Amino acid sequence: MKHSNIHIVETLDGSHTLKSADIGEHYHSVNGAVQESMHVFIKNGFHSVDKSRLSIFEAGFGTGLNAMLTFHEAEKCNKLIDYTTLELYPVDENIFLKLNYAEILNIDSGKYFLPLHTCEWNRNIELSKNFLFKKINTDLNEYADNKLFDIIYFDAFSPEKQAELWTETVFKKMFSILNTGGILVTYSSKGEVKRNLRSAGFTVMRLQGAAGKHHMIQAIKNE
Ligand SMILES: C[S@@+](CC[C@H](N)C(=O)[O-])C[C@H]1O[C@@H](n2cnc3c(N)ncnc32)[C@H](O)[C@@H]1O
Repeated sequence: MKHSNIHIVETLDGSHTLKSADIGEHYHSVNGAVQESMHVFIKNGFHSVDKSRLSIFEAGFGTGLNAMLTFHEAEKCNKLIDYTTLELYPVDENIFLKLNYAEILNIDSGKYFLPLHTCEWNRNIELSKNFLFKKINTDLNEYADNKLFDIIYFDAFSPEKQAELWTETVFKKMFSILNTGGILVTYSSKGEVKRNLRSAGFTVMRLQGAAGKHHMIQAIKNE
């Protein structure tokens, strides 16, 4: 699978997303990319774990929207975030330079957005005293590190398009890299996803979804 054939699309809240013609799917909900990321990953992920130091793992860095929102939130709440994100197909410079996230949120792009894209891959980088960042250019299926996290942002393409990433085997790996009490959040609430998460050991909660979606999932590692 390869997706070089990517273009920018404006979603209903005015924020951009990307559409991969090779996969035939958008990177976010067309009902609002920022709205979806804020709801699924920031509200029900970042703000659901009450710790002043958080380690976060993201499956699918893509546009960098979740990372940017997390970085900005970390500064607002003065939390210490250690953020690791995986991406198999980095977005080209000619695309990420055009994304309007910082502009529509009135966030300093030079501080919160561009460094995420321009910094070196596969290295820990201190982007601020609140935000330690590492992006890894690898396949989620190949990821093998025993570092533990408090939160997983599971943001792969949909189970319809990328069934191989929503399996019990992958969720077992996600379970194994979470601290006890840690959570995985994702926008999909498909029955098979819930079943595979439960088989992997998670307690699955169905929460109100972002605009245009009935539900999302917050899965907890209780023990
Ligand atoms: C739904 S998009 C979301 C991306 C991102 N969170 C964002 O806000 O733009 C899924 C991302 O996962 C990446 N991806 C697809 N397959 C992958 C794999 N096997 N390993 C790592 N990343 C993958 C895609 O290239 C894409 O950037």
